[in-house]
Amino acid sequence: MSSSPVVEFKENTVVVVFGASGDLAKKKTFPALFGLFREGYLSPTTKIIGYARSQLTNESLRERLKPFLKTTTPESKLLVDDFLNMCSYISSPYDTAEGYQKLESEINEFDTLKQNKESHRLYYLALPPSAFITVASKLKEFNHPGSKGIVRLIVEKPFGHDLPSAQALQSQLSPLFTEDELFRIDHYLGKEMVKNLIPFRFANEFLTGCWNNQYITSIQISFKEPFGTEGRGGYFDSIGIIRDVMQNHLFQVLTLLMMENPKKFDSESIRDEKVQVLKSIKPFDPKNVLVGQYTKSLDGTKPGYLDDDTVKPGSKCVTFACMSLEVDNDRWRGVPVILRAGKALNEGKVEIRVQFKETNGLFDSSINRNELVIRIQPDEAMYMKMNTKVPGVTNKVAVTELDLTYKSRYHDFYIPEAYESLIRDCLKDDHSNFVRDDELDISWKLFTPLLNYLEGENAPTPLPYAYGSRGPAELNEYLEKNGYKHQNRAVYQWPITTPDVLKESKI
Ligand code: BG6
Repeated sequence: MSSSPVVEFKENTVVVVFGASGDLAKKKTFPALFGLFREGYLSPTTKIIGYARSQLTNESLRERLKPFLKTTTPESKLLVDDFLNMCSYISSPYDTAEGYQKLESEINEFDTLKQNKESHRLYYLALPPSAFITVASKLKEFNHPGSKGIVRLIVEKPFGHDLPSAQALQSQLSPLFTEDELFRIDHYLGKEMVKNLIPFRFANEFLTGCWNNQYITSIQISFKEPFGTEGRGGYFDSIGIIRDVMQNHLFQVLTLLMMENPKKFDSESIRDEKVQVLKSIKPFDPKNVLVGQYTKSLDGTKPGYLDDDTVKPGSKCVTFACMSLEVDNDRWRGVPVILRAGKALNEGKVEIRVQFKETNGLFDSSINRNELVIRIQPDEAMYMKMNTKVPGVTNKVAVTELDLTYKSRYHDFYIPEAYESLIRDCLKDDHSNFVRDDELDISWKLFTPLLNYLEGENAPTPLPYAYGSRGPAELNEYLEKNGYKHQNRAVYQWPITTPDVLKESKI
């Protein structure tokens, strides 16, 4: 756990991207570094070195990266070449000394050029987990500046496949890099609305009073993607949607949404409270999980999961899951928390829905529950469904909303990409939005029995749902049974343009 003072990288920083010729580096890591540079959050004195096995040159790396660097204005177009000139490339295997020695001499040359100041290094492992330990050990051996500088190591998920593999990975990594030096990325923690959860919850006193089981009746966190595995099924087949997004992304959202007030807003106090939530989650009941797998779209144009040639025939891999859990502490006991995630659904959307209890009976049952919706993506928004009098000569009460849609409320604003935001945090040595070892341990403890059941000999066959649908037909019944009340779209839709209820009031 972190105890070092906050040191911000400014000048003389070297960022080394391992796996530089891969997709993640090309689509996320380098574009994020460029985004920071473009917005003035990365010093032009930074040196960026790509490292991978592919035979690329400095020039061919730059050509490869260029189409992925997002420019927003004519001026920012001019910055592309400046940025690319900060980037160079080393082609070398991951498991031999030679490349790391070359890397060290390049870093030293750079340090010397900058008057031999303290060495600041950020190593970003955009690599599959099978390469983590090889690269981390070599970095420790050849490229750790010891007391003459600072090292930060960013690692990407997956942090293990289950509890034993996560613990094994951790026990190999911890003798090499301290918890202070390690930054485990979960890119959901870099999303604007996820970063907003702490200020939203703790800077609004009125919420404190009602953020508990006295007022809240259910919570739903949902992740919907409109595309399937599209040829990557072979990779996904041993992972499934629960490992892919629930154990990490949705769980991170859950802990921020449900944790207690941290003692301070520093990374350890925040992560301590997240861990407390995880510790309070009751063991999952594997029988109370709805699992599905997508089939061909109804019009036959989109393939089913099993049509992917890279997938094991007859695979029971879960591409949709919905599960209800309980945080068993005084604040949340009795409130079902529903996690729902799926690929190949009818839309792409990630949101949180907090439903409040019904009013005390003065109104009839047509009064809807208040519901707070936090839209993480697309189009960041928060809206609170409220019951108010319909305007005009009527006493009717209808549901409407208090609406904070970022695009309408703010103009000329810049929301960093999740990776930009997290690399910036790492450069500032802020661990708050990175995953700590104990968080991982507890979440794998919770998920491993469920995964063993779903992947074991007696695994249930996932329910079919058509590509492009909302999920298995059983979903609505499951949600209702677990405390979530679906609101009738005929009565309320957001955003409302012509509310039917206003028309009705003229009758
Ligand atoms: C990744 C998953 O972690 O998150 C992918 O491996 C998923 O399967 C992606 O598509 C979703 O991220 P985002 O930022 O597009 O919501």
